[in-house]
Amino acid sequence: MTQEKTPVILVVDDTRTNIDLLVHLLGDQYEVSVALDGESALEVAMEERPDLILLDIMMPGMDGYEVCRRLKMREETRNIPILFVTARKESVDEEQGFALGAVDYITKPFSPLLVKARVKTHLRLKQALDRVTHHNRILEETVQQRTAELRETQLAIVRRLGRAAEFRDNETGLHVIRMSYYTHILGAACGLSEADCTLLLHAAPLHDVGKIGIPDPILLKPGKLTAEEFQIMQTHPSIGAEIIGKDESPLLKMAFLIAYTHHEKWDGSGYPRGLRGEEIPLVGRLVAIGDVFDAVTSKRPYKEAWPIDRAIDLLRQGSGHHFDPRLLALFLENMPEVLSIKEKFREHE
Ligand SMILES: [Fe+2]
Ligand SMILES: [Fe+2]
Repeated sequence: MTQEKTPVILVVDDTRTNIDLLVHLLGDQYEVSVALDGESALEVAMEERPDLILLDIMMPGMDGYEVCRRLKMREETRNIPILFVTARKESVDEEQGFALGAVDYITKPFSPLLVKARVKTHLRLKQALDRVTHHNRILEETVQQRTAELRETQLAIVRRLGRAAEFRDNETGLHVIRMSYYTHILGAACGLSEADCTLLLHAAPLHDVGKIGIPDPILLKPGKLTAEEFQIMQTHPSIGAEIIGKDESPLLKMAFLIAYTHHEKWDGSGYPRGLRGEEIPLVGRLVAIGDVFDAVTSKRPYKEAWPIDRAIDLLRQGSGHHFDPRLLALFLENMPEVLSIKEKFREHE
């Protein structure tokens, strides 16, 4: 164990003899610093950060009360215990001293044993308090670290789940990245908080996780789906919601909503529930736009990539039918940003 360092005591008094007396009394047990007036007391306190201060009240210039008040105002010196030192004949306002945050009074002439005992007691108290504060800080840091780790793990799992979904899809990993960024741009444009936008960026990649549950012959069929096959295909939002489950974490809650509602349409003609207008959760309406925009502007095995103008036309036609008109207008307004993402995550053939 490391040896505890000798406590430092600051003695403030304008009378030399009082100082000598206290130094003599405490010097063999503690390291004692001295100050002869209020101003220098404040300086020494800031520089040396003593463990305790013995503070004379009646001093020319700045009196003890004022010194105390200033020490308590500063973060660095606030927690240093202050013991006022007064002559018994001086009429002091004890109430004021305690109100200012002093912990005790010692009266002159000193009783050596009493001074030593008081100093010792208050130093012990201070040390105990420091230990509790230190302990709390460590506890707090540990909690924060654990929370961060938990968040990281959660994010990693969400990412792996997204990767798993990609294996079951004929769309590329870049689709998921682009549509997430498009959705993120739109989320920010419609006023979502930064925290929600970040969640959106991480949750959107899971929109099609339910395709894990769609049989290969349907999922990978090159031609057009029959009505019956399409019906099965339309179960992927509900399957996705079931895979993600009802978790309390904000990230998974959002991922659940996105998977479940990204194929709902503003006019109620979407699936799986045929929700209408603002019945559709905001995140579902945001993802619908980002997802469709990327689908039409990307090359797929069965189709060429559409030029931007044609894609914008299609989106416009969907305003109020497929898409929330207000959000769609915002999306079109932010087209330059959208296109820079498209360029950044371009498919290399
Ligand atoms: Fe989907
Ligand atoms: Fe998609």
